[in-house]
Amino acid sequence: MDIWATPPSPWDALGRIQTLLRLKNYMDEQAKSVVFAMARRANSNMKNGHSENLVAYTEQLGESLGFGEEDLQELRIAGWLHDIGKIVIPESILLKPGALNAAERRIMQEHPVIGENICAPLKSLRSILPVIRHHHEKMDGSGYPDGLRGEAIPLKARILQVADIYDALTIDRTYREALLPEDALRILFSEAENGWLDASVVLQFSRICRCGQFFPLRGRTMLASYHAHTSWELDTKSF
Ligand SMILES: [Fe+2]
Repeated sequence: MDIWATPPSPWDALGRIQTLLRLKNYMDEQAKSVVFAMARRANSNMKNGHSENLVAYTEQLGESLGFGEEDLQELRIAGWLHDIGKIVIPESILLKPGALNAAERRIMQEHPVIGENICAPLKSLRSILPVIRHHHEKMDGSGYPDGLRGEAIPLKARILQVADIYDALTIDRTYREALLPEDALRILFSEAENGWLDASVVLQFSRICRCGQFFPLRGRTMLASYHAHTSWELDTKSF
C-alpha cells in the first residue's frame, strides 16, 4: 500500500509481486555473472588461470567425502570465488616476489572479508559466504580473520584450503617453477602436522592422488615412496 496509490486487487498485487521477483532474480543472476567475471580476472592475474584445477580438486574431495550435488555445486562456486576479495588488493602486494612486510600482510589478510562483502548482497551466493570468509583459518586457531579452530572452520573451507595450496604449489610462479606433485603433497602433510590444515582432508586428498587422478605415478606408488622416506605411515593411521 506504500507503493501503489490505489491498492490493487489481491490477484493484481500477486501478479505484480511475481513480476518484481522475476526482475529481482534476473538482476541477481546478472550481478552473479559480474562477480564471476571479476573473479576470473583476479584469478588470471595471480594464478595463470589455473582455477579449473582447483575446482576439480575440490570436486573430487567433496565427492570422496560423500557430498551431494548441492554441496558439490557450492564447493565449485567457492573454488571460483573464494579469492575475489583480492581484486581490490594492489598488484604491488599481490605480485610481490619476496615476502610481504607486516603492513602489506595486513592488507592482504583483508581479502576474505572483502570477498564476503562483495558476494553478500547476492542471495544465490549466501550459502558460500562462510567458505569465503574462513578459507584462511587454521586448525590450531592461528589463521584469519576470526581465529577459528578445528571443526569450527566450515568443512568446505578446509577442503578448499587443501586444494588451493596444492594448486598453488604445482603451477609455475614468477619467482619459482612448479613443484612436483609428490613434493607438493609432502608440504600438505607437513602443514597438517603443524596444526594448520585438516589432516583427515589432506589424507583423503593423498588417497585421491594415489589413484592417479591428478598426477601420474612413476614406478612404485607415491605413498610407498612416502613410507620409504618419511614417518607419515605412523602418523596417518591415527587420523
Ligand atoms: Fe585467499
